[in-house]
Amino acid sequence: MSQLQDNFGRKFHYLRMSVTDVCNFKCSYCLPDGYHPDGKPSFLTLSEMENLIGAFAEAGTRKVRITGGEPTLRKDFTDIIRVIAGNPAISTIATTTNGYRLEKHAKEWFDAGLRRINVSVDSLDPRMFYQITGENKFDTVMRGIDAALEAGFERVKINAVLLKGLNDKDLPRFLHWIKNTPIDLRFIELMETGLGRDYFQAHHLPGSDIRDRLMAEGWQLDARSAEDGPAQNFSHSDYQGRIGLIMPYEKNFCASCNRLRVSAKGKLHLCLFTEQGLDLRDLLQSPDQRPELLSRLEGQLNLKKETHYLHQGITGVTQHLASIGG
Ligand code: GTP
Ligand code: 5AD
Ligand code: SF4
Repeated sequence: MSQLQDNFGRKFHYLRMSVTDVCNFKCSYCLPDGYHPDGKPSFLTLSEMENLIGAFAEAGTRKVRITGGEPTLRKDFTDIIRVIAGNPAISTIATTTNGYRLEKHAKEWFDAGLRRINVSVDSLDPRMFYQITGENKFDTVMRGIDAALEAGFERVKINAVLLKGLNDKDLPRFLHWIKNTPIDLRFIELMETGLGRDYFQAHHLPGSDIRDRLMAEGWQLDARSAEDGPAQNFSHSDYQGRIGLIMPYEKNFCASCNRLRVSAKGKLHLCLFTEQGLDLRDLLQSPDQRPELLSRLEGQLNLKKETHYLHQGITGVTQHLASIGG
């Protein structure tokens, strides 16, 4: 089977595989009341993941990002990395984490094959960090980032959701940080979710405001590279770090979509928004099921819509991003 492709010519070489819905933070835009399971959840096992990765790799996937919830809360997180690394077609293994366990495990994960890490740091002011995440872990997370840089990770990206009336005043502090530190900073525009409607009204800061502020300070939009995905990247000759803007409300945001998602319970999601997900788990039980799994994937891709229509005011069914892996 050749590369997975949809009806709009988009190719999907990037899989975001969620491994748990559980999270130990209470980010006010995501899980303000923390994680509360609906019964005893049963997340994908290592062998189900191996079968999943095997099929996606055959269909052209080259990059896998392990997401959650907080993926590193899985006790077998290092084994998950090893399972993915065991597939020779996967050239990049990444994860997105709140950084809570990074300091202790960065080296172990690197040795297992993890190469890229995105860490959420919504504020450089420890009090604001606490206010947004509900956890007093600013210092732990910052030490984790240092540990990741020391362990040899190719890329450490920092995600910050900029919020009106909360951390929007932190922009100068963030810029100061990357002046002499080679970090990729990601500013993410708040996305409205089912559970966060009122919050969105109160704190949404348009990504275009951030872009205007950056351009006024001499930041320049980089040429797009094939690997970019939906982010717009900026650089500045006086700064070692770079900035990416994720502006999901921009009209053409989805044109460069290059990723598919599988939830921690094995459902395929063609987009963060707009659909419930299609169960793949029954076809993850044996490597012999791969042909059937591949034809199910191919069939589903024909249903991928051109855009999530967020710019037309649609938020779909997504309650919060922790259940779909962001
Ligand atoms: P790279 O793999 O480094 O390019 O990062 P990424 O942006 O794919 O990963 P990350 O997990 O760090 O995501 C950062 C933010 O971008 C999260 O808030 C995601 O929900 C958001 N995001 C990532 N992909 C999409 C997408 O396809 N659509 C939308 N609307 N948001 C996305
Ligand atoms: N809007 C924008 N970003 C969000 N994230 C979680 N929920 C939202 C939301 N509603 C971000 C986290 C993390 C990434 C995986 O998703 O901050 O960096
Ligand atoms: Fe947890 Fe990430 Fe959601 Fe924060 S944004 S509550 S760290 S899943």
